[in-house]
Amino acid sequence: MQLLDIERRSDINAAVAVGQPGSGAARRVFIETYGCQMNVSDTELMMGVLKKAGFRRALALEDADVVLLNTCAIRERAEERVVGRLSQLSRVKRARPDLVLGVSGCMAKHLAEQLLDRLPYVDLVVGPDSYRRLPELIGEAAGNPALDVRLDRGEDYLELDPVRQEGTNAWITIMRGCDKFCTFCIVPYVRGRERSVPAGDLLRQVRLAASEGFQEVTLLGQTVNSYHDGESDFADLLKMVARVEGIRRIRFTSPHPSDFSDKLIGTIAEESKICRFIHLPVQSGSDRVLEAMKRTYSSGRYVDLVDRLRSAVPGLCLSTDVIVGFPGEDDSDFESTMALMRHVRYDSAFMFKYSPRKGTVAYREIPDTVPETEKSRRLQAVIAQQTGISGEINRRYVGRMQEVLVEGDARRGKGQAVGKSDGFKTVVFPRDGIRTNTFVDIRITDATSHTLIGRPEN
Ligand code: SAH
Ligand code: SF4
Ligand code: F3S
Repeated sequence: MQLLDIERRSDINAAVAVGQPGSGAARRVFIETYGCQMNVSDTELMMGVLKKAGFRRALALEDADVVLLNTCAIRERAEERVVGRLSQLSRVKRARPDLVLGVSGCMAKHLAEQLLDRLPYVDLVVGPDSYRRLPELIGEAAGNPALDVRLDRGEDYLELDPVRQEGTNAWITIMRGCDKFCTFCIVPYVRGRERSVPAGDLLRQVRLAASEGFQEVTLLGQTVNSYHDGESDFADLLKMVARVEGIRRIRFTSPHPSDFSDKLIGTIAEESKICRFIHLPVQSGSDRVLEAMKRTYSSGRYVDLVDRLRSAVPGLCLSTDVIVGFPGEDDSDFESTMALMRHVRYDSAFMFKYSPRKGTVAYREIPDTVPETEKSRRLQAVIAQQTGISGEINRRYVGRMQEVLVEGDARRGKGQAVGKSDGFKTVVFPRDGIRTNTFVDIRITDATSHTLIGRPEN
């Protein structure tokens, strides 16, 4: 999964309203989402479950009777943020004791009972495989704290329709869980075993999204390209999705480098609706570290895959995830990561300091040897190098045309609109009455390491 930086992503607020049918006083829910796109998608799923049970929407936290934090456990910092937020919300609860305060998602599974023991004002703890039971659990939480964090390898939330947030992209979760067990990663423990949603149900969801006006879908899974429903593999699924009328752009995240077949590369090359952008997490450029991480590929095989992708798909944009300071990583390992990134020249990268996660193999078996100050130094160095490369790549777009799907007003800059290019570049341009969710041709006039700037041109 392409991890959206938790720090930046945590401001995504999803509001659902809930109310009991015929109960007069409607109960309303507000959900705050942390972590990756999978959680954004799960928040929409929870909204769907709650709506079906007759609950209604709270537009602001102050109006809610139930507040859920849909949480992430990927790094320690992600959990600390949620604990901080919960302690803020405990003050709201003191003023309004009837407020139900719940924790869902990966941290709910990771800490489970500990959350209820440590934070007595939490009423509800619900793990990623128990969202069907949400209405029931909210009911139970009115008396005693309710907890359900069982993992269920059969749960694929078939036949549940999400209530999508506003926007121009529809998230479609095509597989859940992960079987890779990279030694640093908590995901297999909090999300359980890998399972794929049958293609028929996914196509129904894509058609529904298209009928709601979405022209772009993003297929989601922790190792999205290991999708297999018994009949169709990921390449087959992409082809089927490409045939859905109304869908003009298809994205997916995150593929695992070891599961990238030639068939899949061929499909991406052939299908023009599949965007020319791939997030391909590398984690490290050192073979020794990749081995200790159990990533199942070498830097050579990874670079070979990049070469095959680039020759099959001209103009392909690439991003990645990198961890610095993995236990045992020395200067030369780190330099290998820097060198690999200079060689591949990613369009962008998400870069993280290693964070030991209780329950993982690395936590149990490999001492966290790299001092915090050294982790910080490496992180700064890798970010500085990548910022330079991203800037150089983006500046080459100046003068070129880009087809942009308009997402809405730009956050900064009055009268400016923002959208994404096929290659997933953020493009900012004068709004000039251009409607959201339309495609517009933009002439690029300037660029930074994060953004392309331009103006519409017919
Ligand atoms: N399934 C996705 C990863 C999801 S987690 C994949 O394999 O691509 C997103 C990213 O968080 C990972 O790619 C990794 O770079 C980072 N990450 C995971 N565990 C971490 C840890 N313990 N410390 C620091 N970064 C971590
Ligand atoms: Fe974590 Fe590895 Fe699975 Fe990605 S593939 S979710 S990094 S265990
Ligand atoms: Fe995503 Fe964080 Fe869970 S990255 S899968 S929300 S641990």
